[in-house]
Amino acid sequence: MEELISHAKNKANVVLFSPRRYGKTSLVKRVQNELSEPGIVTLYIDFFGVNSVEDVAARSASRLYSFCHKDNSLLKKAMRLLSSWRPVIRPDPEYGLSLTVESIAGKRGMALLEDVLLGFGRFIKEHQIGFHIVIDEFQEIAKLRESLQIEGMMRSHIQTHRNASYFFVGSRRRILSEIFNERKRPFYRSAINYPLAPLPVDEAAAFIVEQFRHGGKNCPQEIAKRVAERVRGYPYYIQRVPYSIFEISGKKISEDDYTRGFIKTITEERPVYEAMLQVLAPQQIKLLSSLAEEPTDKPYSAGYMAKYNLGSIGGVQGAIKKLIDLDYIEKVNGVLQVVDPLFSIWLRHLKGGI
Ligand SMILES: Nc1ncnc2c1ncn2[C@@H]1O[C@H](COP(=O)(O)OP(=O)(O)OP(=O)(O)O)[C@@H](O)[C@H]1O
Ligand SMILES: [Mg+2]
Repeated sequence: MEELISHAKNKANVVLFSPRRYGKTSLVKRVQNELSEPGIVTLYIDFFGVNSVEDVAARSASRLYSFCHKDNSLLKKAMRLLSSWRPVIRPDPEYGLSLTVESIAGKRGMALLEDVLLGFGRFIKEHQIGFHIVIDEFQEIAKLRESLQIEGMMRSHIQTHRNASYFFVGSRRRILSEIFNERKRPFYRSAINYPLAPLPVDEAAAFIVEQFRHGGKNCPQEIAKRVAERVRGYPYYIQRVPYSIFEISGKKISEDDYTRGFIKTITEERPVYEAMLQVLAPQQIKLLSSLAEEPTDKPYSAGYMAKYNLGSIGGVQGAIKKLIDLDYIEKVNGVLQVVDPLFSIWLRHLKGGI
């Protein structure tokens, strides 16, 4: 929090990345909460599932409008500055009120995005205290046909937004890293790389013990530590596994509760893991299961490929690329392994069934 707030106040741009469910979104929202007190304008834009350049522009415009809509003079200003987009506020049966934007006839595609970026630029210039803009799931732009053009246009505008700090957030680490660290890409070296590390085991264990104590139960430090180690400091599971243990245990947490808690979590997370497999081809699933069984620094060795019946080198290469792009596997000190520790356990038991 301290480091990120300091980057934001210094108007630095940051690329914040980690595996899925590490707490990035929660963290940047807390950062923005703290920043809004000193009067910094905070915008949170989510690019998850963006499907076109118009969509990128519309999501950005609508976040600026939703920030402005409570204050009439701000709203007027936004309408003047985002001249290609007008806000549409409607009653909504599910949300109470919904704010969407409509583009004004005449402009399309990149021109709409350019207009939004120009509008942001003028807004930022006029608001002296400063801006903080989070773009969550930023790597999703890489899927779009015009991705390079979008990157180029965003970069050239954002670098003129001197009074703003942008946080680009995402969980597809390879794709995000390519956007910011490849020489030919427009965003090359334009933001501070900020990997979100796993939680430190001892602090996480102390946190678990404390939470049990709050709930009126006693979890031995040693068991808490083993939970933190087994989930490799993975923030989501640091909460999720103890939650399962809490549900099934008595006043004092036993060895048996520890084992059953893990199994209960994995069983309940099964739909997530199944959905993760659904996007893969059989060859990719095979490699993923092999890596769950046995992480390796030599996936192309004849021994490894024969042991897991992996087929051709080309096939393994393709599978590795796909699995790294999806952030299902990662290389740690040269060794390929499955990123999510419980997904990995689930994969190992897939044949036997839990
Ligand atoms: N510091 C933390 N310690 C433990 N649990 C946390 C922490 N921060 C967030 N969580 C929990 O982890 C889960 C994932 O958080 P969040 O959605 O913020 O992660 P994310 O990294 O943005 O995930 P994704 O990549 O899927 O978007 C949430 O259920 C949240 O309550
Ligand atoms: Mg998130």
